[in-house]
Amino acid sequence: MYSKKVLEQFLHPKNMGSIKDADGVGKIGNIVCGDRMTLYIKVKSKNEKGKTVETINDIKFESFGCAAAIATSSMITELAKGKTLREALELNRETVAKELGGLPPIKMHCSNMAAQALHKAIEDYRNKLKSKNEK
Ligand code: FES
Repeated sequence: MYSKKVLEQFLHPKNMGSIKDADGVGKIGNIVCGDRMTLYIKVKSKNEKGKTVETINDIKFESFGCAAAIATSSMITELAKGKTLREALELNRETVAKELGGLPPIKMHCSNMAAQALHKAIEDYRNKLKSKNEK
């Protein structure tokens, strides 16, 4: 039912855990099955030719989901690490499923969680930064 890559990521997930002083946190629940996941990011800002470039320096996830949810979470952390926030926002469930060599159609809803949690973590980081700058 699962591709080799899905099984590999499920059995040996990368970047599992939490980041205590995370810059952004994305929590998501799956309305189809009730499973949950949380994704943490640390963001590094640097100045490049007068422009601020923000990249994902560290990323971790906690998942209370099925094999597909764990595999997609692990894969998205690998894909997002080192990317700029703009690049990371382009990652979606299709990107993740493709990188995993496909997912059974019945499991596509699971792959949505990882991408949504990443997007939420970036949104959380930006909101925190905005309120910090307003003080
Ligand atoms: Fe719940 Fe896959 S069945 S995340």
